[in-house]
Amino acid sequence: MGVNDFDANQEKLVQKAYDLMAEEYDILDDRINPFYVNDCKFLDHFVQRLLPHWRGQIVLDVGCGSGLQTVQFASRAKHVIAVDISGELMRKVQEKLKPQGLTNATLIQGNATQLPLQDSSVDFVSAYGDVIGHIPDYVRAIAEMARVCRPGGTVTIEYDNKWHLGLLFHPADLWNALTTRRKGDLRRWTYEYLNHDSKVDLTYKTFTFPEMKSHLNRHGLVVTERAGMHILSSLIPEHIQDPPKEKHPLKAYTVKFLQAIAQCDFRLKQRSPFYRLAYSAIVVARKL
Ligand SMILES: C[S@@+](CC[C@H](N)C(=O)[O-])C[C@H]1O[C@@H](n2cnc3c(N)ncnc32)[C@H](O)[C@@H]1O
Repeated sequence: MGVNDFDANQEKLVQKAYDLMAEEYDILDDRINPFYVNDCKFLDHFVQRLLPHWRGQIVLDVGCGSGLQTVQFASRAKHVIAVDISGELMRKVQEKLKPQGLTNATLIQGNATQLPLQDSSVDFVSAYGDVIGHIPDYVRAIAEMARVCRPGGTVTIEYDNKWHLGLLFHPADLWNALTTRRKGDLRRWTYEYLNHDSKVDLTYKTFTFPEMKSHLNRHGLVVTERAGMHILSSLIPEHIQDPPKEKHPLKAYTVKFLQAIAQCDFRLKQRSPFYRLAYSAIVVARKL
């Protein structure tokens, strides 16, 4: 459903929603949440692909969530600073780092729009998992990531793409997209908790690539790479790839089918025009 503005309490709502999600955040099961599983596999791939940019370096993980990327960074980076608005998720990061003996991480519960870091103090900044789309003042968050990144360093962001094939199933969103000119629009995401009998509605912002590129350019960040995630899979109705609880677990053949589509998406990730129609996008940028 299209919406006109972020709720005035967006940051509090986001914090509360993710605090409540913390206990189930790491449930990654093809029969329960295949969309999320494929998402995580893709992000893991990108983290590893960008290894030459962050190995032995200082990494900032913005909106680190439960630490799915933080732990990978900590294993090969010099130091990782992980920031998230949700205190409960930050506890999950600590629980992952400790058993692995990873002591090179600083965890900060805070807002991406006010990073408590010096200018040019980190080499690599990552904000994966549509962190940017949750933030009403996303312009300030991008400015903050650019400010703390040193010249020659890398900033990589994953965001929700305005135009994707799945819009064909959502006439209201499609209409909202068509009537919002030259930039992304606001949409509503309903998350059904696995461990609680409740749902939460969160507003998120989508971006077009030219819009994201211009925000990055304005802060001295030049795009060097771009990719798309969930391309053909966005044509599969949501109730199949993000099934409601009563449909758990998915049938084995459905899981196999979704895995095969995810493989195709993986091959298409950097092929034009396919990546332009992906549900979400990754950009990699270099700080001038
Ligand atoms: C979908 S999760 C992604 C987490 C992690 N990067 C991953 O891929 O699993 C989005 C994260 O952004 C965080 N977040 C949202 N708004 C934020 C803000 N203003 N400042 C810091 N973190 C924020 C949320 O708490 C949540 O953990």
